[in-house]
Amino acid sequence: MLYDFEERRDRPMSEKVTDLQEGGRLKHAIFSRQFDRDLLERLCEQAMMIRGLSQTAAGRAFLASTLAHRRAMLYFTQPSTRTFLSFMAACQIMGLSCNEIRDPTLSSEFKGESVVDSVRMFSSYFDLIIMRSKLPGLAEECAYLMNDLSDYHQRNIPIINGGAGTDEHPTQALLDMFTVRRTFEQLPADQRSISGKTYAFCGDVGRSRTVRSLVYLLALYENVRMVFVAPNYKPLALSSEMRTTLEGLGIDVQEVDGLEPVIEDIDVLYMTRIQHEHNSGEDKRFFAEADLSRFKLTPQLLGRMKATAAILHPFPRNDEIPVAIDSDPRAKYFRQARNGMWIRAALIGHVFGLEDAIRDHYQA
Ligand code: NCD
Repeated sequence: MLYDFEERRDRPMSEKVTDLQEGGRLKHAIFSRQFDRDLLERLCEQAMMIRGLSQTAAGRAFLASTLAHRRAMLYFTQPSTRTFLSFMAACQIMGLSCNEIRDPTLSSEFKGESVVDSVRMFSSYFDLIIMRSKLPGLAEECAYLMNDLSDYHQRNIPIINGGAGTDEHPTQALLDMFTVRRTFEQLPADQRSISGKTYAFCGDVGRSRTVRSLVYLLALYENVRMVFVAPNYKPLALSSEMRTTLEGLGIDVQEVDGLEPVIEDIDVLYMTRIQHEHNSGEDKRFFAEADLSRFKLTPQLLGRMKATAAILHPFPRNDEIPVAIDSDPRAKYFRQARNGMWIRAALIGHVFGLEDAIRDHYQA
């Protein structure tokens, strides 16, 4: 191996963030803590511009010309619908052609090739790798591999993390923030800020990589209150490390054992499904007995929510939001999924240094 991954993985985030950028922009997108408020807001603006440009034939042709000479590999060896398809759509908007590996048994990994070797091979043929894996550190490891190749003046390309085990899902956090921002933009001028609001996360808080990534972006804003609504069972609840980290960032953190007591306070309700695929034997025993009804949204609870509240869900959903709620104007989860396409296109544009070109074209 070219490098010592464990040592790099165990470094403080501030050092990693430095390693993952180059020339004033992100080289790889691995963690949500790589995004500061300025970059986050710029990406949201870029996403709006890309959305606007996509409404005309001339705008679409411009966008599709920007990366027409580039190729992306979508290496998604863990199940995915929205992330995979919205990344593919984002690549297509920007003109990138795409190839995919979804089943590692059809690649040389089946012949014993290491994932890291496979990824290095992809970098010979492609200009961007977007990856999802059940291995939490894989995207990070591949990013460092690319950095080392760069040090040796060898071909290397950007890595974007499309979901890393139970660890992080930074681009989901981007689209969640973009959705929050777009939702609040509909409110009267004095209520549009992301700051000063109550965000509730309900369900499988402990194992949700989307929650883990999103809280860091919300923490970039002032006077944020976060309520974690999860069963009082360690694997599903907010971890004490995360609680300490969030409190250290100035967040008002609260944990409750059901939606009922907090439902009226919530500005954004972030629902999640229970991720049974991660269950241990002990977890299965817990679920056999557990009553999870307190972590489900019902029409009755909805009736008590603020008229201006927004309900988000990264999807897929199980039974935590009944379809009867889908037609309520506060249900934003389908729009949220579409927002993913725009903000992922914006992120790809950023990584390839296209921000100015997109802004100039939009303003022309
Ligand atoms: C989530 C994921 O894969 O982490 N889905 C997504 O990317 N939109 C959430 C989940 O699987 O429950």
